[in-house]
Amino acid sequence: MAFEPKILAFACNWCAYAAADLAGIVRMSYPPGVRIIRVMCTGMVHPGLVQEAFQRGADGVMVLGCHPGECHYVDGNVKAEARLAVLNEMMDAMGIEEERFRLVWCSAAEADRFVAVVTDMTEALRALGPSPARPAGAGAF
Ligand code: FES
Repeated sequence: MAFEPKILAFACNWCAYAAADLAGIVRMSYPPGVRIIRVMCTGMVHPGLVQEAFQRGADGVMVLGCHPGECHYVDGNVKAEARLAVLNEMMDAMGIEEERFRLVWCSAAEADRFVAVVTDMTEALRALGPSPARPAGAGAF
């Protein structure tokens, strides 16, 4: 059976989540391994949530938020970006390649961009194979 990467995508309510919704409305398709969790702002995605996603079997994690200057809570997306160094350290300690995490900006109107970035991430993960942090026997989430 072909490997279908599981991606946990934390999507901001005001932009990327709406873009994913729009993609569905206009019947654009994207890979079935993408699981979306709606958050009110990327600034609320604690690195511990990313760590837990990998521990529970995600092959990749994405955080998708408002473009710089468009965060509804002023600077949540800036805070999310500032956590990248911590996330990279954490993933390195877990033995997870840094390519398995992406922070992406995507407005509510950019359904095509949403589809493109999750598809590109899926293809990159297909090339990498299952996450080394996957629990044994995990079909995971
Ligand atoms: Fe969208 Fe802050 S409200 S990233």
